[in-house]
Amino acid sequence: MSATGETRPGPSALPELPPEAGEDVGVPPQGREAGTDQDLVRLADIRRAEASLPPSIARHLVTEWRPGVWLKLESLQPSGSFKIRGATWKLMTAADSARSRGVVAYSSGNHGRALALAARSMGARATIVVPGNAPKSKLGGIAGDGVTLVRCQPGSELRRQLAEDLARSSGAVLVPPYGDLDVIAGQGTVGLELAEQIDGLDAVVVPVGGGGLASGVGAAVKAIRPAIKVIGVEPSLAADAAQSLREGHIAVWPVERVGRTIADGVRTQSLSALTFRHMMRYVDDMVAVGEAEILAAMGLLLNSCHLVVEPAGALPMAALLAGSLPDSARVALVVSGGNTSAGTLQRALGSGHAPRPARTGAEPR
Ligand SMILES: Cc1ncc(COP(=O)(O)O)c(C=O)c1O
Repeated sequence: MSATGETRPGPSALPELPPEAGEDVGVPPQGREAGTDQDLVRLADIRRAEASLPPSIARHLVTEWRPGVWLKLESLQPSGSFKIRGATWKLMTAADSARSRGVVAYSSGNHGRALALAARSMGARATIVVPGNAPKSKLGGIAGDGVTLVRCQPGSELRRQLAEDLARSSGAVLVPPYGDLDVIAGQGTVGLELAEQIDGLDAVVVPVGGGGLASGVGAAVKAIRPAIKVIGVEPSLAADAAQSLREGHIAVWPVERVGRTIADGVRTQSLSALTFRHMMRYVDDMVAVGEAEILAAMGLLLNSCHLVVEPAGALPMAALLAGSLPDSARVALVVSGGNTSAGTLQRALGSGHAPRPARTGAEPR
């Protein structure tokens, strides 16, 4: 049960897993983890981030795609994703002395890209640990002046350990991609803006990888308007968060399995302890979508909205197209990122996007 009395994720919305898919393994703390529910990110933290983030981070990129459905266009942020919010806020909260020794991150792409940009804008050197199989389009976006790329075998745990070692030995600031209070507060500004900018919102729909975005958005939205549902979306091939929330402990999925989804932004194997606690408290429901649905959503966004959206960023639209969102709700879909390759866009265009689903009772109030 969440703090606001909403139900936990309903079994009907959750994917069935083969018995070997999840392991009952805890995940060690990352970043500035907290120990109790009282230490979850608060609305005041998120408001502080909102008031302090630089104007280069766009706050009003919201469009009403059709009556009752809004798109929050994080794909148009300077680094091409919402990740610039958490990365920038984390660096802004770090001590000058630590930042001058550099910043370190581990990332499958967008977090690294955002951190590289944020570090450059503050004159800090960045070291980014990337998986050896990251798409070239994403690595190209990270590389640049003042940035050192360190390649590592695929797997979030390996990357995390290497980045932690590098930060410890150099005294640099470690910026985790999701398991960190400041990063979550930064991502939470997405939810704060939605709750304040759209009247009468019924639900906010967010993609879920490590859960930083869902945690921050949930913390903001539930504090401002507890009635707004927070719905997380994952690919069926990487639905560890849904399993975790359903079973009440952190499930870790094999890297070979999550690596098969086209949505490279959410190929995380597990939530962190901190994001798990936030999501248990603030997320009402989880939805899983198939690979064809993700491509169809990308194709539709490209064709009908002229928006370049990466697979992870299209997850909420895929859930809408699949009819998995509450009918007749006024919903905001977080289009979380746009960093993708021409090849993936070709696949999306070739997928023959689905027609817009019929929605009734979703007229603007
Ligand atoms: C485009 C995009 N959307 C969603 C996510 C998921 O965010 P989180 O890991 O905070 O759940 C990511 C993570 O990298 C991403 O790059």
